[in-house]
Amino acid sequence: MLICPSILSADFAALGVAADAVRAETDWLHVDVMDGHFVPNLTIGPPVVASLRRHTDAYLDCHLMITDPAQYLPAFAKAGASGCTVHVELGSVPDRIAQMRDLGLDVGLVANPDTPFEVFASFLGQVDLMLIMTVFPGFGGQKFMPEVLPKIAATRAEFDRLGSPAELQVDGGIDVSTAPRCAEAGATAFVAGNAVYGGAAGADPGAAVRALLASVAGVRARA
Ligand code: DX5
Ligand code: ZN
Repeated sequence: MLICPSILSADFAALGVAADAVRAETDWLHVDVMDGHFVPNLTIGPPVVASLRRHTDAYLDCHLMITDPAQYLPAFAKAGASGCTVHVELGSVPDRIAQMRDLGLDVGLVANPDTPFEVFASFLGQVDLMLIMTVFPGFGGQKFMPEVLPKIAATRAEFDRLGSPAELQVDGGIDVSTAPRCAEAGATAFVAGNAVYGGAAGADPGAAVRALLASVAGVRARA
């Protein structure tokens, strides 16, 4: 089980501090890239990823909420992204998978809450990570959508059928009460922004990651 702290909820003036605060607990950092077009918010681009890369050896998991990933994937690879995750709603999925592989990036796909399983099912054999959104993307701190749980279970079943070791990631409203429900459905990687970095000043993001990990430890996926 992998906890993926989302720096979207961290202090952007102190991203190095945010990265270091969870480094002992997890290898992953989730980087939410938004272009003000695919989603109505603007956040992080390749220069920030490059700065993070110079600062940390963590796995930089870049969730691209942008309309034209083809144009920017090379810049993320050059900046030191470890893996990129591209929205299936944009189409051209086989081309994006090939592009990410060519660039040496781990290959991730992501589906919005209202995107049916059938839209991405045929690509699951080619990915390193499938992200099932448990909120509509754009902002941290939204409420978990339990209606997405059956899609997580369907994705788990297909990964199992394929014998795939890919990560099944969830993102949005994940905390110590919703993470175990996703783990039961078969999720293996849990993005958490507010639950990790949203605490009062002085709160400990590392302790929050440990609590999340404890909440899913030993939870078995329901067959
Ligand atoms: C939302 C982003 C998430 C966000 C999650 O569009 O994709 O990664 O940071 O934030 P929380 O955990 O606060 O819902
Ligand atoms: Zn995200």
